[in-house]
Amino acid sequence: MSDGDVRDRPEMHPALASRFSPMSFDPDVSVTPEQIDALLEAARMAPSAGNSQPWMFVVGRRGDAIHERVVRHLATSSSMWAGAASLLVVNLAHVYVEGTDRWAYSEFSRYDLGQAVAHMTIQGLHMGLDAHQFRAFDRDAVATEFFVPPHWEVTSMTAFGVAAHVSDDTSCPGTSRERATRAEITWLRA
Ligand SMILES: Cc1cc2nc3c(=O)[nH]c(=O)nc-3n(C[C@H](O)[C@H](O)[C@H](O)COP(=O)(O)O)c2cc1C
Repeated sequence: MSDGDVRDRPEMHPALASRFSPMSFDPDVSVTPEQIDALLEAARMAPSAGNSQPWMFVVGRRGDAIHERVVRHLATSSSMWAGAASLLVVNLAHVYVEGTDRWAYSEFSRYDLGQAVAHMTIQGLHMGLDAHQFRAFDRDAVATEFFVPPHWEVTSMTAFGVAAHVSDDTSCPGTSRERATRAEITWLRA
């Protein structure tokens, strides 16, 4: 029995234990403005290096004009499922000092953005929303579409909604959920 075996897993927070990235979303579910506020609040309160808060988000709710503009730039692969999600959030990292293309705003910008997005997704789980983060879209085109200035980077996107399948649905095409073992990810441990 490896530590990938469910019988050998330490107790985890239920939201984390059941989390997965859905490959299809229920197209009848909508998110409320209050839920969007709660997602943004979770990101806002995430820790960051020197409290630099190097994140910004473009939020498109299915059916609104922003969502329509985001959907145009999905890759073929993500367009199969992301458009049906209730919400698409484009994740932006503050990478350079304004007016420069080489002076790092913070060496931890992308790290901090990732953490803010993680907090958002956990807040989503708390509200019954699943999330699928992805990069399968035209990042340059999204930057142009929303006039993102060059010192900000369009880094990734998150689709939020309610999964339309269970996590171990083998009929659902998707990337591997195989994990390295705990031993493999531990460089040193007494
Ligand atoms: C930064 C990032 C980029 C990703 N890009 C894609 C993507 O382009 N397409 C996709 O289907 N999944 C994408 N994923 C989802 C991963 O493939 C997924 O998290 C991984 O296979 C583990 O599966 P799980 O989240 O269901 O545990 C991405 C995840 C992250 C964090």
